[in-house]
Amino acid sequence: STTTIIAIDGPAAAGKGTLAKRLAAELGFDYLDTGLIYRAVGMKVLDAGFDPADPARAGEAARDLEPADLQGPDLRTDEAAQAASKVASIPAVRDALLDFQRRFAATPPGGKGAVLDGRDIGTVVCPDAPIKLYVTASAETRAERRLKELQAKGIATTFDLVLAEMKERDERDSSRAVAPLKPADDAHLLDSSALDADQAFDVAIAFVRAKL
Ligand code: C5P
Repeated sequence: STTTIIAIDGPAAAGKGTLAKRLAAELGFDYLDTGLIYRAVGMKVLDAGFDPADPARAGEAARDLEPADLQGPDLRTDEAAQAASKVASIPAVRDALLDFQRRFAATPPGGKGAVLDGRDIGTVVCPDAPIKLYVTASAETRAERRLKELQAKGIATTFDLVLAEMKERDERDSSRAVAPLKPADDAHLLDSSALDADQAFDVAIAFVRAKL
């Protein structure tokens, strides 16, 4: 029997992760947060005292990545996000991570299906995925949501700082030569600017069920 792949892409803080996790839970599929893998590579390079933009160091960190690296306590910080975005523009890093992502998609642990979220799932990692969503929202909406998340965690920051960090990262992710952030030609666009998380999920699950 073959398994189903759901590809979810979009810019930072669009709500991809929340949506992907909920879809996976609802369908009994396995979920892979591919951004976490890039964050882990970025932090591995930083922790070793090197520049995440250094192709040789970053490539080596990606090839040496171990499951335990995905448990790092700092992976959700802005520092990790920026380091992730820097290593993510290096072709050797992307190459090294491709097999793992494709294997997870093709043979998810639970055997039913896989939901992957990231920037290039529908375009590069799983171009043949039968279900692709491109989730977006205005930069201001995304920054506002991210600010609330950070404040809830007790992290002191401002709207302007969050917005600037996000825009810098989106710009780098969209303009890189290899696997830039963009919707696949056959992706379904979901603009969540005017939707709360429940409404976005309702739209997404209806779209997915119609395709299953
Ligand atoms: O999704 P998240 O914000 O955790 O991703 C962190 C960074 O990892 C992104 O800004 C992007 O540079 C990179 N990334 C990527 N391709 C993916 C997932 C994440 O380039 N499939």
